[in-house]
Amino acid sequence: MNKRRSQVYNEMKRILKGMIEKREKAIRMGESSKNDLLGLLLDSNMQEGQEHGKSQDKGMSTEDVIEECKLFYIAGQETTSALLTWTMILLSMYPNWQANAREEVLQVFGKSTPDIEGLSHLKIVTMILYEVLRLYPPGVFLDRKPYKAMELGGITYPSGVILSLPLLFIHNDPTFWGEDAKEFNPERFSEGISKASKVPGAFFPFGGGPRICIGQNFALMEAKIGICMIIQHFSFVLSPSYIHAPHSVIFFNHSMELNSCCKSCDFYSYCEIGPF
Ligand code: HEM
Repeated sequence: MNKRRSQVYNEMKRILKGMIEKREKAIRMGESSKNDLLGLLLDSNMQEGQEHGKSQDKGMSTEDVIEECKLFYIAGQETTSALLTWTMILLSMYPNWQANAREEVLQVFGKSTPDIEGLSHLKIVTMILYEVLRLYPPGVFLDRKPYKAMELGGITYPSGVILSLPLLFIHNDPTFWGEDAKEFNPERFSEGISKASKVPGAFFPFGGGPRICIGQNFALMEAKIGICMIIQHFSFVLSPSYIHAPHSVIFFNHSMELNSCCKSCDFYSYCEIGPF
């Protein structure tokens, strides 16, 4: 696995480096920097360089630009596709919600292509997407590492320990969500996020604070457009051979050693480490 990881790492780096160098050369030759993320990063980088001079170590290095491109690609791609996939699975399991969503979508857009203005009128679709993000958040843990010894809630944590925020557990905890916490019930979001849980802050599929997901509005817009276009034209059901066995593959909880799963929590079946 480590060998494969290192191969993938080097290959991505090589491809991105090639793209960056090609683009930098084109910009130097006077071509416009194209209106995409890489163009914006390089533009802002060149501006920094011109304003502060190369010697001042301002702007991003090629390594930084490579990492930013990887972050956007990885953070933006699989997360949103997991949201769309789970939405289709849950709408297949709950045909009444599929019908409610279709009625709303057809009312707002008919059979025409969804537009931005119409998306803000989608109440049921939004409730459904929130409930899917609550039950099947694409990121199941968020990790933080204190850079110096810090006290939190009366406990002092040394620098370097990994603190894991168990997003999935909090999203499924009856203390915060009531007895039906494990059921799919988009109705709980009918009065918005703040009224859905018993305490504020129990719903954070996009993280929070200064490192909150930068793509959250874009992701919800993408997901709404995707679901609308599917639901306008198709009805869907689960395959009879479908077996419900959710399994997290993106986010790995570094604080646990491989095979150290205690198997005692309700969620070990979601966990990459535990058997399922
Ligand atoms: C359903 C879709 C998505 C979910 C659930 C999601 C979730 C998250 C979460 C939980 C974080 C915070 C990680 C942490 O605090 O450690 C995060 C960060 C981030 N996300 Fe998303 N994300 C989604 C879609 C996207 C999209 C579409 C993009 C880009 C177009 C994106 C770009 C980013 C970036 C760049 C960060 C890092 C922000 C920073 O560290 O300052 N995400 N995302």
